[in-house]
Amino acid sequence: MKDIVPPPPPIVRNDVAAVQALFQQYVVPSYGRFDIVLSHGSGSYLYDITGRRYLDLGGGIAVSSLGHAHPAITEALVEQSRKVIHTSNFYYHEPQGRLAQALVSLIGPGKCFFCNSGVEANEGLFKLARKFGHDEGRFEVLTTVNSFHGRTLAGIAATGQEKVKKGFEPMVPGFRQVPYNDLAAMRAALSPATAAILVEGIQGEGGVMPASPEYLLGLRQLCDEKKLLLLMDSVQCGHFRSGRFQSFQRILEGVPGGETFLPDGISMAKALGSGFPIGAFWVRAPYADLLGAGSHGTTYGGSPLACAVALKILDVIQREKLADNARQTGDFLKTGLQQLAQKYPGVVQSVRGLGLMLGIELAPNIPKLPGDPAKMQVVRFANLLHAAGLLAIPAGAQVMRFLPPLNLRQSEAEEGLKILESVIAPLAG
Ligand SMILES: Cc1ncc(COP(=O)(O)O)c(C=O)c1O
Repeated sequence: MKDIVPPPPPIVRNDVAAVQALFQQYVVPSYGRFDIVLSHGSGSYLYDITGRRYLDLGGGIAVSSLGHAHPAITEALVEQSRKVIHTSNFYYHEPQGRLAQALVSLIGPGKCFFCNSGVEANEGLFKLARKFGHDEGRFEVLTTVNSFHGRTLAGIAATGQEKVKKGFEPMVPGFRQVPYNDLAAMRAALSPATAAILVEGIQGEGGVMPASPEYLLGLRQLCDEKKLLLLMDSVQCGHFRSGRFQSFQRILEGVPGGETFLPDGISMAKALGSGFPIGAFWVRAPYADLLGAGSHGTTYGGSPLACAVALKILDVIQREKLADNARQTGDFLKTGLQQLAQKYPGVVQSVRGLGLMLGIELAPNIPKLPGDPAKMQVVRFANLLHAAGLLAIPAGAQVMRFLPPLNLRQSEAEEGLKILESVIAPLAG
C-alpha cells in the first residue's frame, strides 16, 4: 500500500535538536516548553534522551500519582485491552459502574458522569448549574480570582486569570470572579442571576492557596441560604493529594461541622487516570438526575479502558495506603521546605500547601538569579533546578510547585530537598 504520509526521518538517539525541530515545524506553539526532551520514566524519576535522570517532583502537573511506568497500570491497560477498549455510551459495562460506585463511596451519596479531561469535567458542572437555574432564569457561576478551570471557552471565562482570556474575547457570558477566601466578597457579589459558586479546595495554578475551613463552611451556608449549587474543582487538589480523597476532607478535619460538609458537585481528572485521560464529575444525590437522558455526553467518556485503569489506580492507592504516605511524606517535605525558607529568606519567602501539593513562593527580587531578566523568576529558577536534576512546576510568576507521585519515598523527598538547597544556597546573600 502506498504511504499517504511519507515515513518520518529517523531520529538519532541523543539528538535533542532533531526532536525540537519536529516541534518547531509541526506542533502548534501554544505551550512554552523547557529545553528537555524526555524519553522514559521509572517510579519518581524521568530520563531524557541523553540519558540524564531527573527526580520528578512535578508529577506531570499532579497527574502521575503512582509514578512512572507503574506495573499495575501496565497490567490494567493490557488486561482490559484484551477484553474491550471502547463500547460507546449507548451500552452498559461494568468498569464504568464500578468506578462510579467507588467514587461515590469516597465522597458521599450521589452519581458520577465520566469525560476525558479536567476542563470537560468543569464544563459538565457549568451545564449542571445552568440546568439547575434554568426555570428561574438563573445561569451565572461565580468563581474566584486566581482560579484556574481549564482552557475551553467556558473554562477561560470561569478562570480568574486575565492571561488565559487575553486575545479570546468576548468571553462566554455568565461567569464573574470574586476574591478567594473572602466570604463577604462572595455574598456581596451574588446577583439574581447567580446559580452556583465554583471554587478549588486548594488553588493550584493560582500558587498553592488552600481554602480556609471557615470559607468552605461559610460557602456551604451561603449556598443553602440562597439556593445555589456549591461546586468544587478538584482536578488538581483531589485524588488523595492532600492526604484525603478530597482536599475539603483534609481542610475540614477536626473542624466542628466539617464531618458533614459536602459540596453539590465536584470535578475530577488528572490523577484519576494518572496519565490515562479520564475526567469525571460527582453530583450530590438531590441533583444527581438533573442531567437526564440526551442532555449531556461525550463519545469516549468512561470507556472500559479508562475506567479499568482508574479502578486499578484507586486499588493501589488504597492497598498501599498512599493517602497516608501523601500526608507523612508531604509533612516531611513541607518541614524541609520551611527550613529552607528560614535559612534562605532572600530566596524563599513562604511555603504553602497540604500533603503532596506544596509550593514555595520565591522572594520578589533575587539579584543572583541567572538568566534573561525579561523571563519570569520562576522560569529561571526552574531552569536551575533542571540543570541540577529536579523537575518542579511553576505556578504564576513567583511560585514553584511540588506535586510528586503519591508513593514518593522519604529518601526521594530528602534527595529533592538536597538538590533544592544546592540551587538555593548560591542565590542567597
Ligand atoms: C484546578 C484545575 N481545573 C481544571 C484544569 C483543567 O484540566 P485539563 O487540563 O485536564 O483540562 C486544571 C489543569 O491544570 C486545573 O488545575
